[in-house]
Amino acid sequence: METIIISLGGSLIVPNKIDFNFLKKFRNLILKYLKKGNRFLIVSGGGKTARNYQNAASKITKIIKEDIDWIGIHGTRINAHLLRTIFRNYAYPKIITNPQKIKKEIKEKIIIAGGWKPGWSTDFVATKLAQAYEAKIILNLSNISFVFDKDPKKYKNAKPLKKINWRDFRKIVGNKWNPGANLPFDPIASKLAEKLKLKVIVLKGNNLQNVDNFLFKKNFEGTTIEK
Ligand code: UTP
Repeated sequence: METIIISLGGSLIVPNKIDFNFLKKFRNLILKYLKKGNRFLIVSGGGKTARNYQNAASKITKIIKEDIDWIGIHGTRINAHLLRTIFRNYAYPKIITNPQKIKKEIKEKIIIAGGWKPGWSTDFVATKLAQAYEAKIILNLSNISFVFDKDPKKYKNAKPLKKINWRDFRKIVGNKWNPGANLPFDPIASKLAEKLKLKVIVLKGNNLQNVDNFLFKKNFEGTTIEK
């Protein structure tokens, strides 16, 4: 049984309001793939839920970085509860909050996780889960279609890449992670993913046909980051 870790970017769950149409299609896709005997670990991002709470708190008083993170973490967790609810008949009934404490003997085919602790991102949680489960692949679904050789927002001639190795990828994203920076994969998670020799696939998640193509091993649009 292959375990596939999905880092589901909050920008897909709550781009502005909760995108229930996306979630409905995402659910159908996962259930279709489950029939093939695979198991999914889905890590939920915070999206606008996290950002709205973080912004509101900052407007009221001066808040410390750790509290900005905590409120973001709870944003990821309410989204994780939403996912658990829509997968009720298939999902482990608890949300995983500490990827180091996950029980390997969980029988359910879907496990949902949220944010862990301040200073990390949900990409990092996904990477820690890959480590715990000795999984080889993380599917990173967000609103980014490809890794580009340079920042496409700054450079018009930035080229989309089909493949990139961890060393070159880490040169592009740097070593620091800023919440909300909207990078294809968090730099701190990348460092661990490189060490674990993981394969991370960056795919635009709202094109679910493309995600389907990837899962069913057909041609897909996106970037494979690997050794
Ligand atoms: P993410 O930044 O991982 O969610 O968590 P996202 O919505 O998918 O992010 P984008 O779309 O890639 O930007 C939301 C916030 O929760 C806190 C951070 O402040 C983060 O910005 N967080 C999350 C943590 O502090 N620790 C965690 O383990 C996870």
